[in-house]
Amino acid sequence: TPLSVSQYLRQHIRTVPDWPAPGVQFRDITPLLQDPRVFRVLIDAFVHRYMAPELRPDVVAGLDARGFIVGAVVAYELNVGFVPIRKKGKLPFTTVEETYELEYGSATVELHTDAVRPGQRVLLIDDLIATGGTMMAGKRLLEKQGAVVTEGAAIVDLPELGGSERLRAAGLNLFTLVDFE
Ligand code: PRP
Ligand code: ADE
Ligand code: MG
Repeated sequence: TPLSVSQYLRQHIRTVPDWPAPGVQFRDITPLLQDPRVFRVLIDAFVHRYMAPELRPDVVAGLDARGFIVGAVVAYELNVGFVPIRKKGKLPFTTVEETYELEYGSATVELHTDAVRPGQRVLLIDDLIATGGTMMAGKRLLEKQGAVVTEGAAIVDLPELGGSERLRAAGLNLFTLVDFE
């Protein structure tokens, strides 16, 4: 029987136990990027969805760093611009920032103040949703600038960590390709 896209992609995600800390099952997407056939299936899954006129964004925003890998390629294929949301201290022009909680401590992400225009429809992309903190911060930044986040997209969801549920409860439409319980 043929594999679904989700099953096919799942087979190319590597699980590294106890990294970067004991008890964490790290879901490593690098094998998926490394094989050109698999990389194409991944990108095409997003491009197919966001080509549809009702879902086609004006711009794609990607989350530093793994969200850049997929986000930039999807933006290019959709023939729309790409906007980076970066970890603090990397963007040279004037920025807005959002701080969010991690398991230990906190992190801050930034967006250039001229990166999006009010009313622009933005697709927000990352590789993975864990607690949802990173994507939530990105959504807040874009909305602070008056943009409309039409959807959040990621390769992997870790539903047990509750992030996707929190993001949906905050009103974000979310699309993910592979779940790991
Ligand atoms: C990882 C991953 C997501 C985020 C998910 O990024 O790439 O961006 O964590 O976790 P959350 O849902 O709990 O916020 P990380 O900050 O480790 O760095 P990287 O993308 O630069 O590798
Ligand atoms: N980011 C947060 N949690 C992660 C996990 N379990 N695997 C890969 N990236 C992550
Ligand atoms: Mg990341």
